[in-house]
Amino acid sequence: MTLASPAQAATSLAVTIRNLNKQYRAAPHPAVNNISFAILEGSVLALLGPNGAGKTTTVKMIAGLVLPTSGDVDILGCNVFSQRAQAIAHVGAVLEGARNLYWRLSAWENLLYFGSIRLVPRRQLIQRADELLALFELTAHKHQPVREFSRGMQQKLAIACSLLHDPAILLLDEPTLGLDVKAAKTIEEIIGYLASERRKSILLTTHQMHLAEEVAHDIFVMNEGVQVVYESKESLLKRFDMQGKIVDVELSSSPAEETLAQLRSAFPSVDQQMNGGIETLSYSSHNQQEMLTFINTVDTLGCRIDNIRYRRPTLEEVFLTLTEKKTT
Ligand SMILES: Nc1ncnc2c1ncn2[C@@H]1O[C@H](COP(=O)(O)OP(=O)(O)O)[C@@H](O)[C@H]1O
Ligand SMILES: [Mg+2]
Repeated sequence: MTLASPAQAATSLAVTIRNLNKQYRAAPHPAVNNISFAILEGSVLALLGPNGAGKTTTVKMIAGLVLPTSGDVDILGCNVFSQRAQAIAHVGAVLEGARNLYWRLSAWENLLYFGSIRLVPRRQLIQRADELLALFELTAHKHQPVREFSRGMQQKLAIACSLLHDPAILLLDEPTLGLDVKAAKTIEEIIGYLASERRKSILLTTHQMHLAEEVAHDIFVMNEGVQVVYESKESLLKRFDMQGKIVDVELSSSPAEETLAQLRSAFPSVDQQMNGGIETLSYSSHNQQEMLTFINTVDTLGCRIDNIRYRRPTLEEVFLTLTEKKTT
């Protein structure tokens, strides 16, 4: 296989991982099983997969925090295991559930502390810390203890702390976990900005598919340690788009259980959900006639149809199809 995904052809690679394996002692299966991928300079690779897929283990191996059983990680030409210090100097990381900040310290004290660990010269550190506070709109909270921060502010500060030594590579493990919609949106904008304006190469693990859909260039889906898919986001979405469009039939009220049961017996894959407060029945097919039959059946069963929309599948739907296929 080629390491670079189609989107990456002929561009320089910031991170390359090759045949990476991790077998934790006493674990029945490898947490990471022979995976390879590359992160292009200035691009975002989303590492997706259900709980326990091996995402965090992969991130920790790239950060040099977990030793692989076998395989290699290269960061801007430096091997993480044989040239650890050089390689790690290029990396900033915000790990999931880790102690990324000191709660009793203020934002400013955290920045100075984490910058000094990274051996950033004092004058440069002060300048960068101020810049990052401004960039993340935290200047007004400079001297406030972090324990008084909202989850969103804490996460922004954790990312700021990981950027003090101006690393070319940023590893973000579940950066929007537990954030409200607005704070998650801010993190999403920051990730997009860091990649496109600051040319950071970003590895992002997430459960939130719309985040990956918004910011990722490449998608790597893993499940039970193995690769499920590795492709550019555009080509992945296009590929699924060609397999079938989706029709959303919006109803003016919830269908009766009996109606739904009848519909399901004729169209087993029909999906019922509330979409922005609107009762919606979704059905996917590559066959236009079958879609029309579906819409007709909904109508014949007595449901009041308010609106009909055709769309391509979202990354979330693609992801569910991919991971379901792999586990069944
Ligand atoms: N330190 C560890 N020791 C033993 N097993 C571990 C350890 N860390 C993770 N695992 C196991 O490795 C697998 C992958 O975990 P992880 O990398 O955290 O997945 P994810 O981040 O995708 O949820 C899981 O089965 C998990 O239980
Ligand atoms: Mg994890």
